[in-house]
Amino acid sequence: MKKYEEIYHPSVLLKESIEGLKIDKAKLGLDCTLGGAGHTVAFLKANPHLKMIALDQDEDVIEIAKKRLEKENLLDRVSIYYANFKDFDLVLKEEKVDKVDFIFFDLGVSHFQLRSDRGFSFWEDMPLDMRMDKNLKKNASDIVNTYKEKDLIKIFKEYGEEKYAPLIAKEIIRYRGKKKIESTLELSKIIEKVYLSKYLKKKNISEKDLEKYKDKYKKIFGKHPSTRVFQALRIEVNKEFDSLKEALNKVSNHLSPGGRLGIITFHSLEDKIVKNTLKGIKDLKLIDIYYPSKEEIEKNIASRSAKLRIYEKI
Ligand SMILES: C[S@@+](CC[C@H](N)C(=O)[O-])C[C@H]1O[C@@H](n2cnc3c(N)ncnc32)[C@H](O)[C@@H]1O
Repeated sequence: MKKYEEIYHPSVLLKESIEGLKIDKAKLGLDCTLGGAGHTVAFLKANPHLKMIALDQDEDVIEIAKKRLEKENLLDRVSIYYANFKDFDLVLKEEKVDKVDFIFFDLGVSHFQLRSDRGFSFWEDMPLDMRMDKNLKKNASDIVNTYKEKDLIKIFKEYGEEKYAPLIAKEIIRYRGKKKIESTLELSKIIEKVYLSKYLKKKNISEKDLEKYKDKYKKIFGKHPSTRVFQALRIEVNKEFDSLKEALNKVSNHLSPGGRLGIITFHSLEDKIVKNTLKGIKDLKLIDIYYPSKEEIEKNIASRSAKLRIYEKI
């Protein structure tokens, strides 16, 4: 398991964010997802007159960001807060600021979180946690061990678009009747079993041969079978969609006229929430949508699903 300091997070759509947010014209910006400070550093370097307010709900990640900013001699141009972005207006109030020239979101988890021992990944065995903010009360293990079957089905469907949601929920209930589900691999094995049984049945292969098909998931299913359920649990644990909607509804009140909003999403559900929430806000106009270049995808495969929406306050 790696410590945060040993992990590198490649920031996505950097050049495009600088252009879309008109960083060269901005005096004060707000980064709602500081992470490893990749975007904040790039913004500050692109415009020597720019000052930033930045927040993140992960206290560990904030320490990494501070070190990076200090190393780059940029720390004195950023005010950093440990906060959920749904409360970004309170952070601005604390700073005695009403409006900023741009607001930026780079949604989802950072590589620091994915590659750490916080339970976001099904590639290594670790406690099934998934809280970005360690002060949250409920973690992923609490959810899989206490939610009713119908609620598990609902979150796997709604937040993961998981086609086998009912079968996986049923298998979870059966398993937890005997033993509490505590680790990432424990849950992942339950999901793999459902996928493989379905596959073997379809291909008319005996369950006895199940072992032979393990570790061939990518070839068989295109994605690891646990991808969607893990995404759904992460969204539920961190109440990601509620926070996003709450934050987006406040953006327009805190952008200067002509100010810009930039949001990077990583999957269609997230993008749909952004699109639909902002559709109802009359004084925010969609200006552009950027996608990663072929070169960026070659260098960082995780960027392939990224999409940057730019809006302007009119
Ligand atoms: C993809 S990373 C950001 C990476 C950053 N832009 C960089 O280039 O280094 C997303 C960050 O947003 C944070 N985050 C996610 N949801 C949040 C929320 N509701 N409030 C505050 N921070 C949040 C996560 O903790 C994570 O550090």
